[in-house]
Amino acid sequence: MNPEAQNHWNRVYTTKATDAVSWYQTQPRNSLELIAAANLASDAPIIDVGGGASVLVDCLLDAGHTALCVLDISGAALDAARKRLRARAGSVRWIEADVREFDPPQRYDLWHDRAAFHFLTDAGDRAAYVATVRRSLNPRGHVVVATFALDGPPRCSGLNVAHYDAQLLHAEFGAGFELLDSRREMHTTPNGSEQSFTWAHLQLR
Ligand SMILES: C[S@@+](CC[C@H](N)C(=O)[O-])C[C@H]1O[C@@H](n2cnc3c(N)ncnc32)[C@H](O)[C@@H]1O
Repeated sequence: MNPEAQNHWNRVYTTKATDAVSWYQTQPRNSLELIAAANLASDAPIIDVGGGASVLVDCLLDAGHTALCVLDISGAALDAARKRLRARAGSVRWIEADVREFDPPQRYDLWHDRAAFHFLTDAGDRAAYVATVRRSLNPRGHVVVATFALDGPPRCSGLNVAHYDAQLLHAEFGAGFELLDSRREMHTTPNGSEQSFTWAHLQLR
C-alpha cells in the first residue's frame, strides 16, 4: 500500500466530519439509478471501490442487496461507515486496500466507483485499474463510474485529478466495454460550491 496516499486519506477522514467533505451527498441518486438499471438479482455481488464513508452501502442494503463489498484505501473511512451501520455492517465485506494493488478475492456483477478513478493521473495506474476491473467482473459485468467532468474542479481533496467526458471514460475502459448510458451531474458540496461530474454505465461485451 502506498503509505503517503493512505496517510492522506486517513487524515481527511479523521479531521473532517463525514458529512463535511466536499464529495458528501445525502442521497446517491445517480449511483442508485444506474445500479438499478443493471437489473441485478438482490444477491448479485457489488463492489463500491473508493467507497469511503459514502451512504451508498446503506441505500443498497435498504434496497435489499445482500452481497455488498466496500473497498477503500482509508481504514478510517471504513470505520466511520461501519460505525454508522452498526449491526448491519456485519453483512458487508470491507476491504482496506489500494485499488492499484487490489487482488480480487471473488468476482462481482457490478463495480461502482464515484470519484476514486479520477485520482489516477498516471497512465500506468489507469491501465492497471482497468485490468483489475476486467479480472474482477463476471461475464457481462457492469461498471458504474463517476469522475470530475472536463469543466470540473482542477483538484479534489488537495490532489490533482484527471477529467473526463463519457467518451473519454469509455476510451479508458476500452472497446471490450459497451457504453450503456452516461450523464452529467452538478454536485453541490456541503459548503455550497458546484462541481461538474461525468457518469458512465459500461458493460463487458
Ligand atoms: C472523493 S472520495 C469519494 C468517496 C465515495 N466514493 C463517495 O462518493 O462518497 C475518494 C475516495 O477514494 C478513496 N481512494 C483514493 N485513492 C484510492 C486508492 N488508490 N485505492 C482505494 N481507495 C482510494 C479515498 O479514501 C476516498 O474515500
